[in-house]
This record gives sequence, C-alpha cells and structure tokens, in this order.
Amino acid sequence: MNVTALIVAAGSGSRMGGETPKQYRMLAGKAVLAHAVDALSAHPRIDAVRVVIGAGQEAEARAALGTRAVGDPIIGGATRSQSVARGLAAVATRHVLVHDAARPFCPPAVIDRLIAALDDHAAAVPVLAVPDTVARSDGVFLTLPESRDGLVRVQTPQAFLTADLVDILGRHSSADGAPTDEASVLRAAGLPVATVEGDPLLDKLTVPADWARAQAMLEARMISRTGLGFDVHGFKGPGPVMLGGIEIAHDKGLAGHSDADVLLHAITDALLGAAALGDIGEHFPPSDERWKGASSDRFLAHAADLVRGAGGIIDHVDATVICEAPKVGPHRAAMRARIAAILALADGQVSVKATTTEKLGFTGRREGIACQAIATIRTPAP
Ligand code: CTP
Ligand code: MG
Repeated sequence: MNVTALIVAAGSGSRMGGETPKQYRMLAGKAVLAHAVDALSAHPRIDAVRVVIGAGQEAEARAALGTRAVGDPIIGGATRSQSVARGLAAVATRHVLVHDAARPFCPPAVIDRLIAALDDHAAAVPVLAVPDTVARSDGVFLTLPESRDGLVRVQTPQAFLTADLVDILGRHSSADGAPTDEASVLRAAGLPVATVEGDPLLDKLTVPADWARAQAMLEARMISRTGLGFDVHGFKGPGPVMLGGIEIAHDKGLAGHSDADVLLHAITDALLGAAALGDIGEHFPPSDERWKGASSDRFLAHAADLVRGAGGIIDHVDATVICEAPKVGPHRAAMRARIAAILALADGQVSVKATTTEKLGFTGRREGIACQAIATIRTPAP
C-alpha cells in the first residue's frame, strides 16, 4: 500500500446554502461526496480512500456513501486543516492525496500527474492558469489590473509524503490562521510544492452558481434513451375502469391483479425500458400478494423513482389507448394531469392519444383495452 486518498467532507457548506451541506446533496442521482469517492477509488494507483466528516453528519454520510469501501468515517474539526490533521492520523501509507469532497469530478489524468510528481517531490498540487484580467475590488471600484503572469488557481487533490505533511501541520497549522489548503501551509513553512496541470472539472462547488454549472455540465453529457411499453387487459365484470390514473364510468370493468390500469402499466413499462431496468412483471410480480388490487400509480411512481435514482431525467411520455369504448377524449386532460402529477412532470411532458381498431380484432369486439406507450429519458453517460 502506497497511496491513500483522504477526502475532507466535514464542512457546513455555508456559502452554498440549503438545508443539507453541499457534499451530501444529490447531483445526477449521487451525492457529491460519493462522486468524489468513486472518482478516486477508481484510480488504480490509489490503494485506500478515507473520508473525514463533521460531528453530527454521520447519518448524511452513511446515506451518501452506501456500501463504498472507505472504512469508518473520521470525525473532523472546526477548520479544514483540523479536519485534515484528524484524517491524517488514520493514514498508514507513505503518500497521501488530500482532496475536497466539494470537488466531485476528478479526471484520472490529474492523479497520474500528481503521483508521477511524487517521484521527485515531497508535495505536488494541480493548478490552472488564470485566464481573466485580475484586479482588486473594494466592492464598488476596481484597482488597476494586477499582472496575471504566473498566477495560478490551486486545486485538490494535493499530493504529499504523509510523514512530511503530518510534521508540518503539527508545527504550523495553528500559527497560520485558517489555511484553505495544505499547500499553503507548506509554502508558509518555506517548503517547495511542485505544480502539475489541473483540470476545470476539478473546480470546487462553493456557491449556488457552481452547482448550476456542474448540473449543466452533467446534463450536457447525458444520453437520450427511449423505451416502449405495451399492455392489454380484458373486460370482466361491472365498471368503472381505471385508466390513466382516473376512474371512468363504464358498463364493464377491466380484469387484473392490480387495478388493471392498462395505460399506467404501459407507461411504467416504457420508463423501465428506457432505463433498461426490466419490466413491470419483474418489479411487481402478480404472484406477490402485496400488489393485489394495488393502485397502479404506485408502479408508475416507483419506475420514475428508479429512473431518477440512477441520475436520469424524464423528458416525455406519450401513449395511445386502443379501444372502442370508453371514449378517451373527454378524459384526456384529466389523465394527462394525473400522469404528470404521478411523474412530477409538467402536463406538457405527457401526451395521451386514443384510437379504435375500426371494430377489428379483440379491441374492435370490445373484449378489452390495449395501450402502447413510449418514454424519453436522459441518463448519465456511462
Ligand atoms: N472542510 C472540512 N472541515 C471543515 C471545513 C471544511 O472537512 N471544518 C471541507 C469541506 O467539506 C470541503 C472542503 O473542506 O469538502 C473545502 O472547503 P469549503 O469549500 O470551504 O467547504 P465548506 O467549508 O463546507 O463551505 P463554506 O466555507 O462555504 O462553509
Ligand atoms: Mg469553508
């Protein structure tokens, strides 16, 4: 074992705001901290990943981390450098990469460069040039621009010889106020810190605009997928029928294990198909007593949860109800509104159409209702 990644997640995210600290909030179906852990765990040169969390953040951390192999979370301190110092006590490897949980995306090439730099240096950090004009502002007026020659933005992960970092933090962290990273502590102590090229993907999520940028970046990389659904239920016994989540007066009812809402079943299957998550029978087997007489909005809501839980976005669903009667037209608006409500979509993202089969076949003989559906979703790029 040579390299441990130490991810500090003990902050409160005050500049980001919101009820949950930013590192535990969901981004594309996964907590920010989990993105960071996965990015570092996936690198072949990283042997162990440990996470430092705030006192009282245990439940949020557990939910964010799931079954990821990071050992027990370490409880951090009131400042970032205290959190790092406490985390370092649990690091047993020769080298350590200290990383902010608030930087969810870490390209493997940056880790390659940092680890390569450790061959020749005791400390290395990723940096990016500053492309904008640089000046100071008192909040109202600007000074003359400063020269940006040689100015860089310093990111994490920051790579160190563990023993050196422990030694320096022990001697200098309190003396230097609240350093915002470990490289600053080393520099303040006069020690050299090598630089490697950073990556804009590593930019920290600090204020709400950063969150919007990360979301837009993830959405731009999403893949559009479609899924088909088809279902049939035969008429049996007296009405009404459940169709599109609403009750429609009809002389005959539909037979089925659940409430036999053929339209919601077809849309449920379309969503599961788009996400390649099996089919309705697999998730809600008719043999299972739990689903006997079940209201089908539960199936549809569950399919939507599965899509969104995997970081997906539901863009649109469209369906065609095939029957001679009941007539769908008078109920179309109510069905669209109900389906949109179950899926947490706008009505404009839901389409319901209907057709007869010109009295041909089983639907033409009024023996049952068939329904086709199609769903369009976006999912995170693999
Ligand atoms: N951090 C930490 N312990 C602290 C303070 C910060 O482990 N006492 C971590 C944060 O969780 C974050 C990283 O250090 O992953 C970078 O800090 P920052 O972006 O400042 O996060 P917060 O301190 O949480 O945010 P803010 O300063 O806006 O409150
Ligand atoms: Mg902070």
